[in-house]
Amino acid sequence: MHAVILAAGEGTRMRPLSGSLPKPMLPVSDRPLVAHTASAAVEAGADELVFVIGYEADTVREYFGDSYRGVPVEYAVQDEQLGTAHAVEQALEYVEGDFVVLNGDDLYDTAAVGSLFSHTPSLGAYTVSDPRPYGVFSLDGDRVTDVVEKPDDPPSDRVNVGAYHFPAEAAAWFDDVEMSERGEYEITDVVERLVAEREVRAVPVERWLGVGRPWELLEANEWKLGELDGRIEGKVHADAELEGRVVVEEGATVRSGVVIEGPALIREGATVGPNAYVRGATLVDEGAKVGHAVEVKNSVLSPGATIGHLSYVGDSVLGRDVNFGAGTKVANLRHDDDDVKFTVKGERTSTERRKFGVVAGDGVKTGINSSLSPGLRLNAGATTRPGETVDRDR
Ligand code: TTP
Repeated sequence: MHAVILAAGEGTRMRPLSGSLPKPMLPVSDRPLVAHTASAAVEAGADELVFVIGYEADTVREYFGDSYRGVPVEYAVQDEQLGTAHAVEQALEYVEGDFVVLNGDDLYDTAAVGSLFSHTPSLGAYTVSDPRPYGVFSLDGDRVTDVVEKPDDPPSDRVNVGAYHFPAEAAAWFDDVEMSERGEYEITDVVERLVAEREVRAVPVERWLGVGRPWELLEANEWKLGELDGRIEGKVHADAELEGRVVVEEGATVRSGVVIEGPALIREGATVGPNAYVRGATLVDEGAKVGHAVEVKNSVLSPGATIGHLSYVGDSVLGRDVNFGAGTKVANLRHDDDDVKFTVKGERTSTERRKFGVVAGDGVKTGINSSLSPGLRLNAGATTRPGETVDRDR
């Protein structure tokens, strides 16, 4: 069975992190976000992967090449993001027979992807406490009888999470989709026809995360770092203390006086210490550096990010080649204990997290002793002055 993976979107809600990398290529544990879904599809028995690519397409091609985990890979280019049905349409030339479609920026439990592959036709269904913001399934037992978009009065608590197993005949239906009110060709039109014409199974998705905004990237890392089995292949000083699930990859260095509480992944070329404290769930990606007297907690350091000396960074995401000057401190908790807010597409949005620090785009540099407020967004290339207290995005 062929698996079509949608990865053409820019991820505007993920800015500033999606400035030069498409959202599906942002780091989640030991691979890009979309590679988790690709791996689940391979495990489920996909015999070909078709990536729909568009924004910064070359980064996806370079990562996956011609085959992934022994499965051939094809690419379909969607030049303009005209909607999910339009995206699938670009891939149809590579598709034969029944086919699966998965969102490239969502994480699904691997077993659910397996069940989706084994039932034709089927749709992934995830149970939520408030279904109103989603496409909600009407059900008769485990048969889907209808899909209602963002209903005020939801027919069930099981929602559509962008995981579909279509029968071969549905390929022809994508051509018939008309532009929706919001100006997109939407896959839900095909799904509605499918449930009207065929007996469609709702496949339970036990765990799902839509990764749209920066704090969800942090949550994706919390999930996937928590699944790692600890292993030490790099250089770890004899007095370093590693507790829980900690991976130190070959070519990584953990120096004297370091304490690491998992889950944590220290990738190739990264260095930690001397005398640093890394608390889970933390990703120190390739070539990143956590230096002397630095505490990092529940954070993502993208490749080349450096926190050199005397700093605290909690619940934060640092883009590529970010450099935090000595003494930079991140506040990740408000004194009024309210949820931390973050700017998404110009609007202050609740992260629904009590603890959230900063999101720094690629190449951000902070001056020594910078104090950074909770929910701060530093756009790619932004700088702060020595001793500055920064509580406004820049
Ligand atoms: P969205 O989350 O709607 O779009 P996006 O990923 O660009 O993010 P944002 O809203 O922050 O800008 O997309 C859902 C999935 O479908 C995602 O995997 C990207 C993919 N997609 C395409 O491949 N082509 C498209 O035209 C659209 C709209 C989405």
